[in-house]
Amino acid sequence: MLAIRRFVAKRSYSFVTTPIFYVNAAPHVGHVYSAVLADALHRWHRIQGKSPAIFSTGTDEHGLKVQHAAASQNMDPQLFCDDVSRLFKKLFNAYDVSYNDYVRTTERRHVECVEYFWNRLAANGWLYKDSYEGWYSVSDETFVGKSQVTQFDDEHGNQCMVSTETGNVVEWTKEENYMFRLSHFKEQLLSWLNCHSAAVYPSVYATEVKEFVSNGLADLSVSRQSSRLQWGIPVPNDPSQMIYVWLDALVNYLTVAGYPHNNFHWPPTHHIVGKDIVKFHAIYWPAFLMAVGLDPPKRVVVHAHWTRDTLKMSKSRGNVVDPFDNLRHWGSDVIRYYLLKDGSLHRDSDYCDDRIASSLNGDLADSLGNLLQRCTAPSLNPSQSVPPLPDVDRMTREDKTVMDAMNRLCDTVPKLFDHLEFNKGLEAIINCLHIANQYFTHARPWTMAGDPSSRDRLNIILLLPIEVLRLCGLLLLPVIPNAAERMLNRLGVPVAARNADFIKCCLNEPTAFVNCYGVECALDGDMSVLFRKVKI
Ligand code: MSP
Repeated sequence: MLAIRRFVAKRSYSFVTTPIFYVNAAPHVGHVYSAVLADALHRWHRIQGKSPAIFSTGTDEHGLKVQHAAASQNMDPQLFCDDVSRLFKKLFNAYDVSYNDYVRTTERRHVECVEYFWNRLAANGWLYKDSYEGWYSVSDETFVGKSQVTQFDDEHGNQCMVSTETGNVVEWTKEENYMFRLSHFKEQLLSWLNCHSAAVYPSVYATEVKEFVSNGLADLSVSRQSSRLQWGIPVPNDPSQMIYVWLDALVNYLTVAGYPHNNFHWPPTHHIVGKDIVKFHAIYWPAFLMAVGLDPPKRVVVHAHWTRDTLKMSKSRGNVVDPFDNLRHWGSDVIRYYLLKDGSLHRDSDYCDDRIASSLNGDLADSLGNLLQRCTAPSLNPSQSVPPLPDVDRMTREDKTVMDAMNRLCDTVPKLFDHLEFNKGLEAIINCLHIANQYFTHARPWTMAGDPSSRDRLNIILLLPIEVLRLCGLLLLPVIPNAAERMLNRLGVPVAARNADFIKCCLNEPTAFVNCYGVECALDGDMSVLFRKVKI
């Protein structure tokens, strides 16, 4: 056995993952949400200077579901997977998902990692062979307990059994499988969950998981007979069995960590998952890891889903939102902004084009883009520079209101982003932009242009919104990376000053001011509009 050394996690360590996506069907906007949420967190960590900042995504390519999907198109499963995996990659690139590892479960490095992991489970005595029978859902790739199935009449009047939780059809399966001694991990899992209050986050999901575990865990079937499932990773030394697709898939996180090579990075800091796959990440996965002596993830972050007309998106219902169409129409920044503003960890959100249009027109074009145009307009700012620092003692009550709003912004938004509350963080940003816009309108700077006696006052009126925009630009980098960068370019913010150390108002301190805007304090010449409004 290899002597494995593990990378010791530092305080500033970041390792964010998305789930890996099934390739049985084309991607939809719900998948984009999982990926964009993880991307925003990863970008936020990068802004905070966390290292080594692993951010992985990829595709889940084995299992009956994929086997059936390839067969239905008369395609070789590997070629079928290649096509759909390429499509997901194209999608995530187009949405600026800045992953640095894209893992596919059909890759050699992953297969080797799974085989190694399986052998460790076996060597530690956690696997045994037994005859197993129960309800299996191919769509969910999971066995479903007897108390969790219900009878259902399909559209042709045929009776079938479905999973009560997901509504997917289940079929009675009886076969000899390898079983994992999950039942032995009840106490260890409970103690992990109790000692790390945020291990499963938000807490409502932690409560559910604890309840589930407290009720007792049955051992878990972790292989399928090869006669039934051909598209998978064979059990080492027993080709009559294939490794269960969820065990195979979960190990992707170890593959990207570099396991089992020396100095692999472990544990992940954030697994981002949808609410439908909590059990796999918060129960099975930590138990598998404990069984081989590895730490469970630091945090499993669970998000709610996107619906259409309040119904679950599904291909059969025909209400799936195509994320490529979307992108052509709105562009990456607008959709990212909309998903992170209207999406939530806590409650489902309904996808609606009118809401996208109103976010674009109201928040991005009016509040953000328009303020940038106003306070950098050549008619008010002919020298195209960041105005000099004001004398703080001569600030008016109105000026101080804007200063207070900036201080509040810098205080609250980073904490919200740390906890993936991007929706609340964006609300705070838009609120601060409203304050700055109102300030600008009431101050009527256009009445002062060209009047030398008003120059100091005009400088303050331009500078305060510019500083608001610099701070909002830094905070928006994880959400709308393209527009935020263009805005910071326009404000002449040096690249070295685009990190979390600079998320504080610099108008009280000359050195900080020069660091934030550079010695020249020059605006960049690109005056193109950030966002164009659309007709609703
Ligand atoms: N392959 C498994 C994950 C294995 S990870 C070791 C899987 N794949 S999936 O393609 O079905 O789902 C991937 C992610 O997309 C999940 O986090 C899931 O919750 C998310 N979403 C699927 N539909 C969604 C919505 N309608 N809304 C938001 N997220 C959705 O599960």
